Amino acid sequence: MLLEVRNLRVTYRTQRALVHAVDGMDLLIDTDENFGLVGESGCGKSTLVKALLRLVPPTALVEADVLRFKEHDLLSLSDARFRRDILMREIALVPQSA
Ligand SMILES: Nc1ncnc2c1ncn2[C@@H]1O[C@H](COP(=O)(O)OP(=O)(O)O)[C@@H](O)[C@H]1O
Ligand SMILES: [Mg+2]
Repeated sequence: MLLEVRNLRVTYRTQRALVHAVDGMDLLIDTDENFGLVGESGCGKSTLVKALLRLVPPTALVEADVLRFKEHDLLSLSDARFRRDILMREIALVPQSA
């Protein structure tokens, strides 16, 4: 398994409201698999990827039952080790509007 996501929830806390941008998402991607995620604007695609890469704003709340990439438990991995071992080495993000 390359990526295992179970019950991912990402909540943006704004001054006016809580925005439940991702609410209970499961995702399993195998090592030999190409995966495309399609959905209408605002459905949470970018939020999913930003949450995995820890690029959501600090006011956002990221919760999951399982968040695993290869042998790494992303729920317990420190930010320092995440930056050293994973960010841009194992997982990279190419934004649409760079
Ligand atoms: N920084 C933010 N603060 C508050 N709400 C946000 C923020 N970023 C995205 N959202 C909201 O989260 C939802 C999902 O957005 P997004 O992940 O960008 O969707 P997509 O990439 O599928 O178009 C939308 O309702 C969007 O308005
Ligand atoms: Mg997007």
